[in-house]
Amino acid sequence: MNDPLRMKRNKLLDGTILGALFDLDGVLVDTAKYHYLAWKRLAEELGFCFTEADNERLKGVSRLRSLEILLEVGHRSMNGEEKAAAAEKKNAWYVEYLSTLDTGALLPGSREYLEQLRLGGIKTALGSASKNAPLILERLGITPLFDAVIDGNLVSRAKPDPEVFLLGAEKLALPPGSCVVFEDSAAGIEAARAGGMRAIGVGRPENLPGAELYINSLQDLL
Ligand code: BG6
Ligand code: MG
Repeated sequence: MNDPLRMKRNKLLDGTILGALFDLDGVLVDTAKYHYLAWKRLAEELGFCFTEADNERLKGVSRLRSLEILLEVGHRSMNGEEKAAAAEKKNAWYVEYLSTLDTGALLPGSREYLEQLRLGGIKTALGSASKNAPLILERLGITPLFDAVIDGNLVSRAKPDPEVFLLGAEKLALPPGSCVVFEDSAAGIEAARAGGMRAIGVGRPENLPGAELYINSLQDLL
């Protein structure tokens, strides 16, 4: 059949790919809304508005850098101690929102695609900036679907630095060139490319320059 997505999918799994690395928030699970609610609550407490459009800038960005962007939006400044306290407060709210998280938060096709890859002998790893990643994987019951989990607790350099994905490939004992990364942030696509990996964008091409294929969700690849 002349289905362009199917042709691209076949090209993607052409036998040269041995490992798949997944971002978490926005690729496997719909947690972006909870991050947004918690940041918005912090902004309101500080006395300014924080819109969903502003929130786009926080995707894939570390907790502390996210706070700095939020302060830029509100034209506020904080010293190091105040920043640490504000980031901690936001995280406590975020974790509280996560307590309602269940398998319904998995994005379409996440579990099935991970299972399909593993059945096909492809190794899987998580490559996320989030320090809450282990908690989220546990709550969703998908921890066993990963051969390696690299999260914000294990890396020192944030995306677009390739550290998180290079560490993932290393844990899978695979060369970066045999890995593909699934990402919904521009910084993440840049990180994958900088690490010498193939990159699939989950989202729109205009937001994710440099990916070789764009999908709405992993469901598109089933
Ligand atoms: C990324 C999210 O996955 O993790 C960012 O896209 C978030 O929005 C970052 O700031 C850090 O997450 P956490 O859970 O450690 O605050
Ligand atoms: Mg993401």
